[in-house]
Amino acid sequence: MWGGRFAEGPSAIMREINASIPFDKALWRQDIAASKAHVAMLGAQGIVSAEDAATISDGLDRVAAEYEADGVPEDWDLEDIHMTTESRLSELIGPAAGRLHTARSRNDQVATDFKLWVRDALDQADAGLADLQRALVEQAGAHAGTIMPGFTHLQTAQPVTLGHHLMAYYEMIARDRSRFADARARMNFSPLGSAALAGTGFPIDREATARALGFDAPTRNSLDAVSDRDFALDYLMAASQCALHLSRLAEEMILWASQPFGFIRLPDALSTGSSIMPQKKNPDAAELVRGHAGRVIGCATALMITMKGLPLAYSKDMQDDKPPVFEASGLLALSIAAMTGMVADSAFDTARMRHAAELGYATATDLADWLVREADIPFREAHHITGSAVRLAESKGVALDALSLQELKAMDDRIDERVFAALSVEASVAARASYGGTAPDQVRARVAEARTALGME
Ligand code: ARG
Repeated sequence: MWGGRFAEGPSAIMREINASIPFDKALWRQDIAASKAHVAMLGAQGIVSAEDAATISDGLDRVAAEYEADGVPEDWDLEDIHMTTESRLSELIGPAAGRLHTARSRNDQVATDFKLWVRDALDQADAGLADLQRALVEQAGAHAGTIMPGFTHLQTAQPVTLGHHLMAYYEMIARDRSRFADARARMNFSPLGSAALAGTGFPIDREATARALGFDAPTRNSLDAVSDRDFALDYLMAASQCALHLSRLAEEMILWASQPFGFIRLPDALSTGSSIMPQKKNPDAAELVRGHAGRVIGCATALMITMKGLPLAYSKDMQDDKPPVFEASGLLALSIAAMTGMVADSAFDTARMRHAAELGYATATDLADWLVREADIPFREAHHITGSAVRLAESKGVALDALSLQELKAMDDRIDERVFAALSVEASVAARASYGGTAPDQVRARVAEARTALGME
């Protein structure tokens, strides 16, 4: 397609290093859609005859039908999806096919196709994340009052509710969805018609092609439009942060499923066995979600490094933009689906969680708070008194509420028998009823809001 000025064809190495068709064939639907929008506009503007425009458009439909039925052929000599499609079009409809590329370049074509692809990937990620949120909200609603240990430094800190813990992930995913939505709004401008780099002398209608492809408007600067891959980077950054959240959730589920914790039983369907140890049930899906996060972040890093030194406008380095985006998108979709299943179908051992919450003096803060509230002791002093009580309980190997009133009074005379009511894990979580706190009523309120936001009612 560009052989006119060459005396000799490309070497085998040139053909191999140049060919993007092995991966960019994934853009075929977007390439056909953008070409149809382009040729319709060329026809409407009188740049090609109405007859040629119709012939080309029908021909593109035929090419699409072939791709759908048989896949996209991979001929390195045709380099990429754009030339593969144009070449097949020309076989099917003859010389009229040569008019399709009027007033466009592969540079604006690939930017347009790729943007359309990324836009779809964003929408798919968002739909998957909404499903994950629904699974989290279902479990959180069922476990609004289930008590478990809350940790800082992975040391027992204060009792929390399982519903509260799960809703923390709902919030992370809500931010991920909002990042994807931001990226979508920022990218939704059409590069088509920017041509190679400088625009075109043909009387094209960029508004029309932008509208036809679901963009808000055409891009404002042709040099930027053909050399911009921010949209792919925005997607990869949002995907990285999302993968990071999924990885943290996966890590907790791995930990919770290990025998010393024993908080959850993972679904058989998302676990594997060991070929030597018959008792094993391994959380491989969660481990791979944790592993995939590293690869997704690697994809984002790869594209940033590809782009960082490129002068305006298009350089062939930019052909390397697609593999990391395709890879990240596949990994993210699988990770979202795996975590949705893990959340929906894991069984929580609520008795074990409650028991764990009673270990480790998780209600020590409640004793200190009681001293502040009921005896008007400054918090720092209350903290100190409570610390002594914990030390005594620890030396006796008992829980805080197993100390006698006498023993507690020896720590501070202002303590009376009402203190025991504050030391249970139930009282502890119920007391934390500040907005956004772990109290079951707070969790139920947040779950109700989330159900409405997700259209679950
Ligand atoms: N296959 C190329 C890519 O993915 C299409 C653009 C080629 N443009 C060019 N001037 N060689 O980036």
